[in-house]
Amino acid sequence: MFQQVQTAPPDAILGLNEAFRNDPNPEKINLSVGVYKDEQGVTPVLKCVKEAEKRLLEGETTKSYLPIDGRPGYNKAVRELMFGADHEVIAANRAVTVQSPGGTGALRVAGDFLADNFPGRTLWLSQPTWPNHPNIFSAAGIPLNTYPYFDKQTNGLAFEPMMETLGKAAKGDILLLHGCCHNPTGIDPTPDQWKAIGDLVQEKELLPLLDFAYQGFGDGLVEDAVGLRELARPGQEMLICSSFSKNFGLYNERVGALTAVATGESEAKAVLSQLKKVIRSNYSNPPTHGAATVETVLGDAALKTMWEGELAHMRDRINGIRKLFVDKISACGIDQDFSFIQKQKGMFSFSGLNQMQVDQLRNEMSIYIVGSGRINVAGISEANVDRLCEGIKRVIG
Ligand SMILES: Cc1ncc(COP(=O)(O)O)c(C=O)c1O
Repeated sequence: MFQQVQTAPPDAILGLNEAFRNDPNPEKINLSVGVYKDEQGVTPVLKCVKEAEKRLLEGETTKSYLPIDGRPGYNKAVRELMFGADHEVIAANRAVTVQSPGGTGALRVAGDFLADNFPGRTLWLSQPTWPNHPNIFSAAGIPLNTYPYFDKQTNGLAFEPMMETLGKAAKGDILLLHGCCHNPTGIDPTPDQWKAIGDLVQEKELLPLLDFAYQGFGDGLVEDAVGLRELARPGQEMLICSSFSKNFGLYNERVGALTAVATGESEAKAVLSQLKKVIRSNYSNPPTHGAATVETVLGDAALKTMWEGELAHMRDRINGIRKLFVDKISACGIDQDFSFIQKQKGMFSFSGLNQMQVDQLRNEMSIYIVGSGRINVAGISEANVDRLCEGIKRVIG
């Protein structure tokens, strides 16, 4: 039977990473895959994580299964980090959370839940979006549509076209929004634009699905939740997919969560029962280590302060690099205006480079950027920024 199986295409971004690993050029630069890197090009283990892991290793007494929905203390901590402990959604017990294997796992559980309970509803994705979004939701059997997001002329948000298109969505459609640090563009709505999106969601009776994979990577933990808190109006339902891959550096531990906000407590309980049904037939119950680590850090005042400091350090480095990159670009005599890079948030920027320029950078200079021109700003450092600017000058000149 397996003789009939066709080879599937490799994942575009992870495939590029493999090509980078095999490239013998000692001056190669990798701006493709979405992991944070420090000034030395290393993706570090945070100190707060190491400390929490030490405590967990000493205190661990069993490897027995977790409940289907994961660790209750972790789920509570996730909700409080997003909303703030005294938010109405929490006080009214109308939010339920299930622990999931990474943000990707949360998105897939959300997809299966939506396909089971609301078959045929369309899910709207920003154009562009993280390439795994269409994979995940079409695998779950959900019809997809797109709304404009990126304005090529201004390198900013195509807000009017976005709202106009979403005005055509049907009642009950699902609207996927990036909570902050939009991947791949780095462009987020302003607080006023979030308000207008919240109004549209209410008016059109859409279900917001927030992909919240970068809390703390943009402007700060609270600042980055501005859209989420704007949408969480009294009586409003929503789904939120969290990931702690980036802000805790726990990529390979697979730590995420899906939170469902219902109109009331009994509705939330019913949703939870459906989420558990989805999980049971998929991976049964989640792995413990990463979530226990996050729970330990968030539950200990000193460790939490340490984490906030380490997160601020990552955020400040990314924002510093954005400035350095823009300064170096103009210093090396490139005419084109790249100042928009400094306005974008999080790890990614749309550089405006096209596929041909991206290919040339890779073939001639071993500089790896994904085909859309998305660059991982965290891959830039004092050590490689001059070579990068030289490459960009060569391909756009
Ligand atoms: C927008 C977005 N959502 C979700 C994820 C998934 O994160 P995780 O690695 O936790 O599955 C990523 C990771 O790159 C992402 O960029």
